[in-house]
Amino acid sequence: MVNIAVFVSGGGTNLQALIDAAQAGQIENGRIALVVSSSPGAFALTRAEKAGIPSAVLRRRDFDSVERYGDALDTLLRENGIGLIVLAGFMTVLSADFCRRYENRIINIHPSLIPSFCGEGFYGLRVHEAALAKGVKVTGATVHFVSEVVDGGAIIAQKAVEVEPDDTPESLQKRVMRQAEWVLLPRAVSDFCAGRLMVDGAVVTRKEEGVLAV
Ligand code: GRF
Repeated sequence: MVNIAVFVSGGGTNLQALIDAAQAGQIENGRIALVVSSSPGAFALTRAEKAGIPSAVLRRRDFDSVERYGDALDTLLRENGIGLIVLAGFMTVLSADFCRRYENRIINIHPSLIPSFCGEGFYGLRVHEAALAKGVKVTGATVHFVSEVVDGGAIIAQKAVEVEPDDTPESLQKRVMRQAEWVLLPRAVSDFCAGRLMVDGAVVTRKEEGVLAV
């Protein structure tokens, strides 16, 4: 069984999708063991509490450097025997050292079809504003492993979502969440925990049968 830590900073609808999937028995060989928030006021913490999942708050500003912040996270993860980290709306960039330490063990969800509308500065509503400003007709979401490059790690899964003519950033954000993010993330987490994901450099392959011991 893989112990999963979900890192959050805000509303936590992706965390909720994971909790719902876990309660429905859809996370094969995995359990959400810990929720870590970078913000004490995050509603995601209330969702964790309601689901009976232990949580911790670690604020970046309480540490001198991003490396020390990473070390504190690492200690917490080791104490809880964590095998997979899921970034679900986590607004703090992790150090290169931390990303290397957990290579191919950190999954992020991003609300666009990478490599479009991603990288530094593309977060939250800004992603959808940029997509609408560009006039794309299709956008979507991407689940990927986290590397030192922001939104640059190997892609695990993507799902396309149609842009509608009267969309606002808010309406597009909601549709991308509902149709893509909340579907893709639990599935990718289950695939990871069941050992179905094979990583070869930048390319991830999904095997029907679990082949990896995780
Ligand atoms: C989501 O759009 C996710 O793709 C992005 O941050 C947002 C988090 O939303 N990384 P929530 O906190 O899960 O509701």
